Amino acid sequence: MAQEITLGQLRNWLILYADRVIAKEEELTRLDAAIGDADHGVNMRRGMEKVRERLQDPNNPCPDISALFRTVAMTLISAVGGAAGPLYGTFFLRAATSPNDGTHVDLAQLARMLRFGLDGLKQRGKAHIDDKTMVDAIQPAVEAMEAALASGQSLAVALAVAQQAARLGMEHTIDIRANKGRASYLGDRSIGHQDPGATSAYWLFETAAIVLGSPASPSNTG
Ligand SMILES: Nc1ncnc2c1ncn2[C@@H]1O[C@H](COP(=O)(O)OP(=O)(O)OP(=O)(O)O)[C@@H](O)[C@H]1O
Ligand SMILES: [Mg+2]
Repeated sequence: MAQEITLGQLRNWLILYADRVIAKEEELTRLDAAIGDADHGVNMRRGMEKVRERLQDPNNPCPDISALFRTVAMTLISAVGGAAGPLYGTFFLRAATSPNDGTHVDLAQLARMLRFGLDGLKQRGKAHIDDKTMVDAIQPAVEAMEAALASGQSLAVALAVAQQAARLGMEHTIDIRANKGRASYLGDRSIGHQDPGATSAYWLFETAAIVLGSPASPSNTG
């Protein structure tokens, strides 16, 4: 049987992602100060604090995977100002609409979910690869996961290659010129700086590899 990820693991992933964003707020602030308006840290920290609060509310559990992703999306859209809130919100909202078994996903369903999210994000933001945005981390990661799935790799391997691809994509944003968002106003002066949104997006795949790549423990079987 294909290895499965539980609702509880997905929830734990999003909570660990929130922990990461909150702990690294200053790094995002510093990156956005160089090529934007220095608010990506505060935007993401504020949004993910709300997400974490909501996901940890014992009186209001998300009953299934679609509800979990919808909740994250709606929280980000309502709590985060700037471009990133609606963009991440759209990513999770679209991911919520992809087919799943309610409380479990296998690698194929996870890859499809992330593909739905990526396509939604690109439709919304009209950004393509090499525009120096979060797409530069997310798209290679989704493609790497799809390739791993197609070649019959395990879930852990698929998550590891997705993380690696996201990291390379994030690092590649240093070398390219921004064509979207505020950083694009700088033209060639945006070259030499890592994109803040690609950085926060990389952490999504870094934390996924940590939480979803290891077997579900009894406490997170969802
Ligand atoms: N059209 C877009 N599509 C995808 N990602 C985008 C787009 N525009 C900006 N971004 C991402 O959003 C990040 C900036 O998010 P932030 O929270 O700082 O919002 P913001 O200051 O309103 O953004 P901006 O002014 O750059 O549009 C960028 O680093 C980039 O990765
Ligand atoms: Mg900004």
